[in-house]
Parts: sequence; structure tokens; C-alpha cells
Amino acid sequence: MSQCRVCSAALEPVIDFGRMPIANGFLKDPKAKEFFYNMAVGFCPSCLMVQLTEAPAPEMMFNDSYAFFSSTSRAMAEHFRGNAEEVLARTSRSSAPFIVELGCNDGIMLKNLAAKGVKHLGIEPSSNVARAARQNGVNVTEKFFNAATAQAILKEYGPADVICGSNVFCHIEDINSVFAGLAILLKPEGYVYFEDPYLWDIIQKSSFDQIYDEHVYYFSGLSVRNLAARHGLELVDMAHQEVHGGSMRYYLKRKGVQAPASAVAEWIAKEKELKIDVIDGYRVFKSKVDVICRDLKALLVDLKAKGARVVGYGATSKSTTLLNYAGIGPELIEHISDTTPTKIGRFTPGMHIPVKAYEDLVPGGVRYVLLLAWNHKKEIMAKERAFQAQGGKFITYFPAVVME
Ligand code: TMP
Ligand code: ZN
Repeated sequence: MSQCRVCSAALEPVIDFGRMPIANGFLKDPKAKEFFYNMAVGFCPSCLMVQLTEAPAPEMMFNDSYAFFSSTSRAMAEHFRGNAEEVLARTSRSSAPFIVELGCNDGIMLKNLAAKGVKHLGIEPSSNVARAARQNGVNVTEKFFNAATAQAILKEYGPADVICGSNVFCHIEDINSVFAGLAILLKPEGYVYFEDPYLWDIIQKSSFDQIYDEHVYYFSGLSVRNLAARHGLELVDMAHQEVHGGSMRYYLKRKGVQAPASAVAEWIAKEKELKIDVIDGYRVFKSKVDVICRDLKALLVDLKAKGARVVGYGATSKSTTLLNYAGIGPELIEHISDTTPTKIGRFTPGMHIPVKAYEDLVPGGVRYVLLLAWNHKKEIMAKERAFQAQGGKFITYFPAVVME
């Protein structure tokens, strides 16, 4: 029985996916030895945190070959420009605000602040994306954030008006040390915001592909409120985001600085409606996940039997979970199209489906596209109108398998 990383209580099992490779571990050589770990999710009945029971060492994932560059999607670039504007609007009363971002990736958010001369610091352990951030004019330190890093930053730069992170807090296994760091570095009136895939969306859509090695935690208002309270912080607001198939942005301040906005109680009520505060909610989730995998595989096998050719769209990290758990390999998907240079020419983790450049997306005779980057559906559908106009079909699978 594994223990909750936040409060040490015994975890209750939610779902066991079995052997999984590293989600972003695209292979140059499909015969190369691959790292596998056992991927399973547990629910803490005490602090309500949902988490992986076993997480690979961070160095296995966030290193010089980290394959994910934030700026490959136009919609994401727009989203983060919006984040930067919000930061500026909220700190306008401070004469020279200092903004710290954890996991700044290629600088997709901070470059907007750097361009305006705002004092900032990006903290990014993956050196290849950190390099890209520097090229975007961002001040970066290549470190993992924790209490010791927070002390060092405080000494060098002073306290922060804003500490933020997008799709990074849920990556950090020692989340208590991150929160201890926030409490060290934050100005008395400063605020923290972070956004990550939202547990409520995952349960509602059965979008289990958000579960992979990098996502140690699946946050909710309920669990974040408990976690913050352990470190003298308070959840004061929540704002739902469309990105990554449904994310939540959590705002924290030091305890007692600001009364929580009504959104906190409203979202927590919605979370309780979905029963994410009790193990029963997760039993329903598990059975829905298994139905989706069974239906999707059956559809692909049927298309194959009919001689149809299917390609995938977007070699996303999350598709590693879907493809490996459902058992979908190159015998069912010819190749996956992706625009990321570091993925093109490689093979997907575990299932070894070749990744090809966008230009090769739909060779003659392909009528079916499995939309693996389903979180970018709007952007992709708009771009691929011609494919559908010519009778092409997209296959999607959350909350159920459909062709459109
Ligand atoms: P994400 O779901 O983690 O944001 O990853 C999206 C992946 O999909 C990334 O590898 C880039 C790829 N992609 C395309 O190939 N074409 C597109 O139009 C979009 C939006 C993404
Ligand atoms: Zn706990």
C-alpha cells in the first residue's frame, strides 16, 4: 500500500494501468532498450489528493531531450499572452513587480513580460527548453524549485509579487517542498497562481490520458485547499481554463490576506457532485475508461479489417497512455503526424508508431484520422476543413468513441 505524498495517509487504489513507458520518451531507434514503470493512481481519503503511486525520477523526464515545446500551438501562445497580461493588470499597483515562473518551458509566458521590461525569473530544469527561453529574452535559472531554491532566489532577487506555474506544479513529486518554497519567497500581499489539468474535467470526460508519468498529481479545489493550508496559504480563487482538455487555475495568498471568492465554494460543490471526494466516484471512472478503450480498439480493428488506413494526429504525451493501455500500435495506426521537430522521425514510446512530419499527414487513401491531440480540436478542425470536406473522418473518444 503506498502513502500519500502530502499527508502520509494510506492511498486507496483508483486504477492500475500496468507497465508504461515515459510519455515523452520518443525513440530514435525502436529496438533501443526502453524504460518502463508501473503506472497506477491512488486516492487519499484524508487530504483528497489524487496521485500516481509510483513516479519515475524527474531526471528520467525533464532533461536535455525533453520533447515538449509549449510554443508549438498557436492557441497556447495566445493563452499564455493572456496570462502575462493578467499578471501585469493584477500587479499594476506595485512599482516594480517581480514575477517568478516555475517551469517556464521555452518562455511562452515570460517572454511577454521580458519584452515589457518587467523584472522576472524563469525556473526551468530541462536545459534544452531553457535555452529556447533564453533565446526569447527570458532570464532563466536551470533548477528544480523547492525550499532551498526559494531561499537562494529570495537572497539574490528579493521577495516575489507573483509566483506562478502552468502545467508544472502537478509534475513535482515533492509538492510539500514546493509549497514550503512558495511560503518563503512570496511577498506578504503577493499571490501564487498555478494551472494544471483539472480532476473534475478528467472524471467528467473520462479523459484518463491526462494520467502519465509527468503528472504526479491530479488537483482539485478540495485537495489544493488542504495542501495550501498545511503551508500557511489559502485558496482564494479558482478560474476554469479550456487548455489541455480542461484545466483549473488556482490562486493562493497567505492565510487571512483575502477572503476566498465565491468561485471556490462553487467549484468545490461541483467536485462533490462528481463524487471526487469519495472512492466511489473513482470506481465509476475506471469502468468508463475501460469501455472507451474497448470501443476504440474494436473500431480500429474493424476499420483495419475493412482495409481502411488510419493515421494519428498529434504525437502528444498523453497519447502514450491511451495507446499503451488500449493496446494500439503500428498495425492499427500507420503513423502519427506532428509538427514538433524533436518528435519527427522518431517512434512513440512503448507502441513504436512512427512519427512523421505534418506534410505527410494524409497520403492518398487515408480516410481516418485518430485525433490524439483532442485538446486542440478546435484549432485542428479549423485547419483541416479540406480533409473533412473530402469525406475524411476524425475519430475522437472522450467521453465516448465517435467519428465526425
Ligand atoms: P499537447 O496536447 O501536450 O499540447 O501536445 C500537442 C502535440 O500535438 C504537440 O506534439 C504538437 C502537436 N500538434 C500538431 O502536430 N499539430 C497541431 O495543429 C497542434 C495544435 C498540435
Ligand atoms: Zn493525503
